[in-house]
Amino acid sequence: MSRLIVVSNRVARPDALSKGAQGGLAVGVLAAMAENGGLWFGWNGRIENRSTSEVREERRKNIDFVTVGLRQNEYNNFYRGYANSVLWPLFHQRPDLMNYRHHYRMGYLGVNRKYVDYLLPYLKKDDVIWIHDYQLIPMARMLREAGVKSPIGFFLHTPFPPLDLLRALPDHREVLNEMLHYDLLGFHTLTDERDFHESIRYSLNGDISPSGLIECQGHQVKTGVYPIGIETADIPNLVQSGKLSKEYQQLKKELSDRKLLIGVDRLDYSKGIFHRFQAYEQLLKHHGELHRNIVYMQVAPTSRGDVQAYGQLAQQIDQAAGHVNGTYADFDWTPLRYLNRGFRRNTVLALYNLSHVGFVTPLRDGMNLVAKEFVAAQDGEDPGVLVLSKMAGAAAELTSAVIVNPYDTEAVASSLAEAIQMPLDERIDRWQQMMVVLQRNDIHAWQHNFRADLIARPHKLTP
Ligand code: G6P
Repeated sequence: MSRLIVVSNRVARPDALSKGAQGGLAVGVLAAMAENGGLWFGWNGRIENRSTSEVREERRKNIDFVTVGLRQNEYNNFYRGYANSVLWPLFHQRPDLMNYRHHYRMGYLGVNRKYVDYLLPYLKKDDVIWIHDYQLIPMARMLREAGVKSPIGFFLHTPFPPLDLLRALPDHREVLNEMLHYDLLGFHTLTDERDFHESIRYSLNGDISPSGLIECQGHQVKTGVYPIGIETADIPNLVQSGKLSKEYQQLKKELSDRKLLIGVDRLDYSKGIFHRFQAYEQLLKHHGELHRNIVYMQVAPTSRGDVQAYGQLAQQIDQAAGHVNGTYADFDWTPLRYLNRGFRRNTVLALYNLSHVGFVTPLRDGMNLVAKEFVAAQDGEDPGVLVLSKMAGAAAELTSAVIVNPYDTEAVASSLAEAIQMPLDERIDRWQQMMVVLQRNDIHAWQHNFRADLIARPHKLTP
């Protein structure tokens, strides 16, 4: 089998193989790579002063981790700038949070070129290359310009925006053109794929066949829908080990018969944490009978804290949490526990298992693996209920969750009440239906399906 080269800006730490990684992309890619091994290239997460970046190579089990650092100006313009102040808000349908600067675009192209330059010496003729996410869209064009002939696929972990929004990006035609240099483009949902097709059709005048083959500007590209899955079969073991953690033990003791509602997200405006707090406040307002009987724990480690919109969000969330507790807490009850930090992966999974409700209500999300892991971490004889936003890619698959519109905070509050009071047989039914989906389409299926379609490249005349 050909060697798999994975390129993503964020590379899981090699010790994440045992400890677990944070963030949907790193969790998914790590599990996908662990199966067949390969080389994983990306940023080492550090800012360096030297002019020539040092390359770190580390082998763990069957994976070679190869990473490079970023200089301060590269980090500012590429990571903080174009990737996370332009593409991320736009792709999550928040053009109002976009902070566009021409030099961000230059920095973005510069770091993509740098990654190509550092990756080239590692590439072999028979490799299959899989590039991940919005930070690295131009890589295929640059690899082709450097003479690389291997199949190159791209997977977008975020949503793809409708053309009306995409047009707000001054370089949207360039970005679309860069996507055409891949052999295969993967999306989480049909909606994302459809929105991409519309952009190609109406912005670049491309032709799209019913099978998803695009012909445009001299390129032929296949697209497909590959909803990312989780390590469904391994989750129960991780839950068991997480139950040994002091956090789990202590929380279990403190809760006594109170029901736990849990949310776990990077602290990101796309996750809808503020709206979620408002919905919870509505629940407390209208359901006095639940007071003292429930506790909502929101785990939200800081993410991209030096990007302006994230700093503002952190303040807003602090205040909103204070407001809920200020209004409803009593000497023997804190209704909302907001923890601005992360925990080990197995601890989080054990906390899911302890919870009665998984509260996953992003305003927009590519997939959302928390939703999937919450379900897989439940005990089938007494499962918790997933309350899931229809704006998450996961809602297309987990149709047996309690699906909500995160903007309708009053309706979310009613759905929470329904979830808290849901009879056992209904909880079991819904859980079983969701588990069928999670078992069928796990992380291994995701990577097999994508790789198989990438290697097939039936539309390419020359390999
Ligand atoms: C999301 C994105 C990933 C990103 C991750 C963590 O899952 O799709 O590309 O790596 O968030 O964000 P960060 O900015 O810390 O890499």
